[in-house]
Amino acid sequence: MQIKIARDYQEMSKLAADIIADFIKAKPSGVLGLATGSTPLGLYEELVERHQEGLDFSKVTTFNLDEYYGLHAEHPASYHYYMHEHLFKHLNVPKERINIPDGANTDAASECRSYEDKITAAGGIDLQILGIGTNGHIGFNEPGAPFGGTTSLVNLALATIEANSRFFDKPEDVPRQAISMGIKSIMNSRKIVLLANGESKADAIARAVEGPVTEGLPASVLQLHPDCTFILDQQAAKKLTHSRR
Ligand code: F6R
Repeated sequence: MQIKIARDYQEMSKLAADIIADFIKAKPSGVLGLATGSTPLGLYEELVERHQEGLDFSKVTTFNLDEYYGLHAEHPASYHYYMHEHLFKHLNVPKERINIPDGANTDAASECRSYEDKITAAGGIDLQILGIGTNGHIGFNEPGAPFGGTTSLVNLALATIEANSRFFDKPEDVPRQAISMGIKSIMNSRKIVLLANGESKADAIARAVEGPVTEGLPASVLQLHPDCTFILDQQAAKKLTHSRR
């Protein structure tokens, strides 16, 4: 696992955008795995700028990590909506190459199976972008999620529901479940870049990088990935031992 520590959020976002831009230039038809949440917003702004400067996404295929279960794509708190607003409406990724789990599919099991099938049919994910929860979750694989898990309907941890309530009018509106790529689906990606900023992530980062590899801290599994880079700001890195910084 490689650790890069950026001066601040903006530099973290630029470093991640550099990795994606280099990847797309080298493999224009590459498959990108994408995350939502606050962390990648700066990265997505950077990618929009780079597209305006000529970076071509017309052959790229994307897969998002997750979607709330029970929300329609048009719901303003859905990850479909988020991705459209922050990224896809500004880029030239063809609609048919954009993949996000359908949280409105009442047959969750078939949605999960077909999502995995689509990833396989696309040749697997080349470059997966991740954020991390304060409890160490990746995607919506909460502590205790099996390392062998593929895309499935998952229950959100209370900490996640509370953290995400900022995007909803009322706490009772926050979905309790999501469809998420599993740890195994994530680990199958050829390259992984995890982004984290802010002090609230420092504990989870220190445990993910330096703690034991355990299902109790899902991100710790990334220690076993052959090509994984963490890009952190100073705050998120502050609980790493000095030799790491
Ligand atoms: C989002 C996702 C989550 C977030 C994590 C951090 O698609 O899968 O794992 O990356 O909850 O969220 P933020 O960035 O809002 O702190």
